[in-house]
Amino acid sequence: MAEFAMSDLMFREGLMKGQRILITGGGTGLGKVMAEACLMLGAEVYICGRRGGVVEDTAKELMDAHGAAGGKCVGVACDIRVPEAIHDMLDQVWAGGALTGLVNNAAGNFISRTEDLSPRGFDAIANIVFRGSFFVTLDAGKRWLAEGKHASVVSILTTWVWHGGPFTVPSAMSKAGLNVMTQSLAVEWGNRGVRFNAIAPGPFPTEGAWARLNPGGSTRPEAHDPTIPLGRNGDMRELANLAVYLLHPLSAYVNGQTIAIDGGSHLQGGGGYSRLSSWGDAEWEQARNAIKSANEKDRAQRTV
Ligand code: HXC
Ligand code: NAP
Repeated sequence: MAEFAMSDLMFREGLMKGQRILITGGGTGLGKVMAEACLMLGAEVYICGRRGGVVEDTAKELMDAHGAAGGKCVGVACDIRVPEAIHDMLDQVWAGGALTGLVNNAAGNFISRTEDLSPRGFDAIANIVFRGSFFVTLDAGKRWLAEGKHASVVSILTTWVWHGGPFTVPSAMSKAGLNVMTQSLAVEWGNRGVRFNAIAPGPFPTEGAWARLNPGGSTRPEAHDPTIPLGRNGDMRELANLAVYLLHPLSAYVNGQTIAIDGGSHLQGGGGYSRLSSWGDAEWEQARNAIKSANEKDRAQRTV
């Protein structure tokens, strides 16, 4: 379901008119709400994912709810692990003009004891988050530089980039790599108009993340979470407003920053999933089976 009304956003109608934005993994979760906010403000938004039906359904749902704002939302089936597929997708997008913004949001993740990971298990995450996000950035970046176009790249990281992520090591390593990409390219490409920032969200419960990080747990808000200074999970509106700000040209002097939106939880002693240190074999087997079912369900819907 589309989530927002104009009163959920801190911006004026039409703010994002003329902006053309690609959000990887925009068919679900955080990507979907960022797409919705940009669309409501008049942008042309492209969303991609491996499940063609999911991105198409999301694009239709968002257009039905917000198409009247003058923007556009288009779903494209693309696996960002495949550089040629990224190139084809960007050819399709660029046919209507250069992108003005890219959100590196697509990700894969699951909790696991690191000693239980196989090389394929590591690659399953690193090939999406680390390599895939870089390949999308590189292909779009070459086009921006060749055409002398300005653009804003926003990568969705986690606060683990600052303090590590026990039991989510391939994700934490990959996100840390993107954090360094953000800082490096902010300098290397900043003087040619392509700027880089990142958002490090705390917990924003989504079906995709919770099935793999909190298997069996509910995505409903908990009454009070003592591990977060503000005592609660993130609200999708808060994330969407921050993303719009970073994508809009009026934030142009912000470059090379990673902004946490986590209610201050990483400052309170963010140990990621360190609480799972108390789990034994039985708990890990149960979690792995639950994650496996979620992966199988999603895989059956993939079209690329
Ligand atoms: C150990 C596991 C495992 C588990 C899978 N593997 N689950 N290893 N513990 N629980 C291993 C498999 O055994 C296999 O290795 C390898 O990983 C590949 O598994 P597949 O299921 O074939 O992978 P694939 O179909 O490519 O799926 C990729 C995926 C999946 C990453 C595993 O979860 C996915 O598609 N996720 C996309 C959505 C997602 O993850 N969203 C959450 C993002 S949230 P072997 O050697 O056995 O063949 C996030 C941060 C949230 O990133 C932060 C919250 C605070
Ligand atoms: P999600 O709904 O599972 O979103 C992940 C998206 O990535 C899915 O739409 C998935 O679609 C897409 N994707 C995965 N592999 C892909 C590939 N190879 N090519 C193209 N698309 C791919 O999870 P989420 O919670 O919204 O997470 C979104 C982002 O926020 C991620 O970067 C995550 O690390 C970050 N984050 C989330 C939280 C949180 O609390 N939710 C906290 C911190 C950071 P397909 O399966 O169809 O490909």
